[in-house]
Amino acid sequence: MALLIQRPNGTEDVIPQNIHKWHTIEKVTREVAEKFGFKEIRIPTFENTNLFLRSVGETTDVVQKEMYTVMAKETKFTLRPEGTAGTIRATLQNGLLNEPMPQRLYYILPCFRHERPQAGRLREFHQFGVEMIGTQSPVADAEVISLAKNLLDRLELRNIALYINSIGCPACRAEYHKALKAFFEKDKDNLCDTCLSRLEKNPMRILDCKSPVCSDIAANAPLIIDYLCQECSDHFEKLKSYLDAMNIEYTVNPKIVRGLDYYTKTVFEFVTTDIGAQGTVCGGGRYDGLIEQLGGPKTPALGFAMGIERLILTMEKQGCAFIEPKKCDLYIAPMGENALLKTLTITHNLREEGFWTEYDVVGRSLKAQMKYADKIGALFTMVLGDNEINDNKAKLRNMSTGEEIEVTLDENFYFNFSNIAIAAMFKESLEF
Ligand code: HAM
Repeated sequence: MALLIQRPNGTEDVIPQNIHKWHTIEKVTREVAEKFGFKEIRIPTFENTNLFLRSVGETTDVVQKEMYTVMAKETKFTLRPEGTAGTIRATLQNGLLNEPMPQRLYYILPCFRHERPQAGRLREFHQFGVEMIGTQSPVADAEVISLAKNLLDRLELRNIALYINSIGCPACRAEYHKALKAFFEKDKDNLCDTCLSRLEKNPMRILDCKSPVCSDIAANAPLIIDYLCQECSDHFEKLKSYLDAMNIEYTVNPKIVRGLDYYTKTVFEFVTTDIGAQGTVCGGGRYDGLIEQLGGPKTPALGFAMGIERLILTMEKQGCAFIEPKKCDLYIAPMGENALLKTLTITHNLREEGFWTEYDVVGRSLKAQMKYADKIGALFTMVLGDNEINDNKAKLRNMSTGEEIEVTLDENFYFNFSNIAIAAMFKESLEF
């Protein structure tokens, strides 16, 4: 079949056969976030473009190359490339800073970046993220990192290294920028055009340029960690001591600068080598200046986001368990109109009791119905014909053991079916 229109490059369909993987991540992320006191926030999929220019930053790859922007009635809107900017905008717009501090928010949302698609890198991808707003203490950095670690552990992921760094505050950054400028000035002629303009405006962004020539030049650039002021240095030392106390292993990687402009002080990434080049499953850090930059009061904050597709890829590669998809509890095959009427009553009542119940809505032969029940993995089947209706009795068949149990088709049926289903779960035999 030649499909006339395909899905856009860099997007994915999640078909029912795979949805349990998403449900696993969604369930576990919610449980872990809520255990740490975080509450869910939902924000629009698109925002005024200026929000991202002011937060993510005009010299970043995300803003310069990757945003999906439309002009609608003279206003520019952008599909969100990440969740932090919108979450902070919503925090300010809804007066959440008047609520008890720190605010602990989490989100699960689609993001859009026009990047070159490859394994683990999509144009529409999904993030689970958290933001903790209103604390400057380094123990909050440790708390947020431990949430991420707790989540990765709950998913039973292995072989994921935590890298941390500090990229300082505007005070230490000013000195660092001078050193970077002097360093890149020597190789000015070899930098790509984007980096050439970054040299004046924001030389730190040259460090995360994806062009091989710029990355080669940047390999020996000065490191921000050597330029930290006393306060930033103390903050970083405290964070390390808290991580040690929590038994969370980490490596200081002075090369991590992150690709978004709002970060200050702590930055961190969780990286696996199991899924190829796009192995960063989580990235985050502190952004003490962002809220003020967006027009709010001076308020420190921090957070992280994880790529859900990357988490699933890693779980698949490592053979981690997903929550088993639910199965049909009972498939009823009615033979004839009377049996169908009884089937409709039983089905309705069983569904009220919470059981997944199906019957034939196609008009198939008994043999074809049984084949269908087998294909959907029904746990029990029951054939209802004239004899069963007259005797008010039928046989429930356990599809995995072949065992048949006689049941009465009166009001006791629902109670008995519950018991039989539970017993089957524990692989016990029961008769009624
Ligand atoms: P980020 O590092 O740009 O940070 O993205 C976070 C995570 O989203 C990445 O570590 C990766 O797992 C996933 N991700 C990013 N781009 C793609 C892509 N094209 N395809 C698949 N997955 C991707 C942020 O977005 C920050 N807002 C994180 C944060 C929250 N910092 C503080 N609070």
